[in-house]
Amino acid sequence: MKYLVTGAAGFIGNFVSERLCSLGHDVVGIDNLNDYYDPTLKKRRLDRLIGFKNFTFIKLDIADRKLIAKLFATEKFDRVIHLAAQAGVRYSLDNPMAYIDSNLVGMATILEGCRHNKVKHLVYASSSSVYGMNEKMPFSVDDAVDHPVSLYAATKKSNELMAHSYSHLYDLPTTGLRFFTVYGPWGRPDMAPFLFTDAIVNNKKINVFNNGEMQRDFTYIDDIVEGIIRIQDVIPARNNAIAKPSPASAKAPYRVHNIGNNVPVSLMSFIEAIEQAAGKVAEKNYLPMQAGDVPATFADIDSLSNVIGFKPATDIKDGMQQFVNWYREYNQ
Ligand SMILES: NC(=O)c1ccc[n+]([C@@H]2O[C@H](COP(=O)([O-])OP(=O)(O)OC[C@H]3O[C@@H](n4cnc5c(N)ncnc54)[C@H](O)[C@@H]3O)[C@@H](O)[C@H]2O)c1
Repeated sequence: MKYLVTGAAGFIGNFVSERLCSLGHDVVGIDNLNDYYDPTLKKRRLDRLIGFKNFTFIKLDIADRKLIAKLFATEKFDRVIHLAAQAGVRYSLDNPMAYIDSNLVGMATILEGCRHNKVKHLVYASSSSVYGMNEKMPFSVDDAVDHPVSLYAATKKSNELMAHSYSHLYDLPTTGLRFFTVYGPWGRPDMAPFLFTDAIVNNKKINVFNNGEMQRDFTYIDDIVEGIIRIQDVIPARNNAIAKPSPASAKAPYRVHNIGNNVPVSLMSFIEAIEQAAGKVAEKNYLPMQAGDVPATFADIDSLSNVIGFKPATDIKDGMQQFVNWYREYNQ
């Protein structure tokens, strides 16, 4: 089958591209290689795919509606895994327009490409950030999420609404995945696993927000890839018998699932896992909660595991050991 993977030089897109290629599929990966974080890391991720003859990389901006329309018309993709986005909650406080361009305009060009070229399934990245200040734990896809606390979260929730309209109007099968803090080798330098490891290994102080009173459902990259690979084979069908659609399903061929580890880890246990993996004790700088951040995330993954028969299960200690090993090798 022929796939489009957007954000193929990004953390998750790179591993998904690798997996699809190793399964024998043809993959076109696109990415604009922007400098939100060091583009060298993005290029080195792409180097991991050089050996695959069935992988083609094209440097392209998903907000460029003409070029994206041309790409879809030329390549005739069977399926699309849409992972390109302006990520990060904190960056959205100072750079809102980057989120409008990549996450809203970019999602629209991808939906249009899918619509006009009869793509059989669009799987796209949403985020646990949509839960905002939700206090009911674990976070369920059936919870109402109408009060985002960052523009990033607002764009991700908007992506789900945009997807529903295309599923409803054009029968485009869409599945949105709300990722919960994804980490692992080749991970993002703007996220806590990288920032904390970098500081601890280099004997620098770490900033511990909300005085450590935070919890995150950390999900290991291999589990995320397994979930994406399985769910892209489960194509939602129109079901007019559904009398009362839930926030995560509809009469239209539209679904939204959480994908998380289903085990929230306290910030202090997470730091301990890095200390153990690195063999060093962190110097900690305790700070108040940051604007746009949420105190806890915890994924209810029943809707996903019921349809794919798989649950992420990597323990934070094992996952962070893998990350610290990679970090040391990468920085040699
Ligand atoms: N990593 C996580 O913990 C996490 C959590 C929730 C949601 N997500 C979502 O998952 C997806 C993948 O995240 P990631 O962690 O791999 O992030 P990433 O930043 O590593 O990857 C995204 C890639 O998209 C590319 N990109 C951004 N804007 C683009 C544009 N306009 N045109 C073309 N390419 C563009 C970037 O260059 C980057 O390589 C994103 O949609 C993100 O919002 C990630």
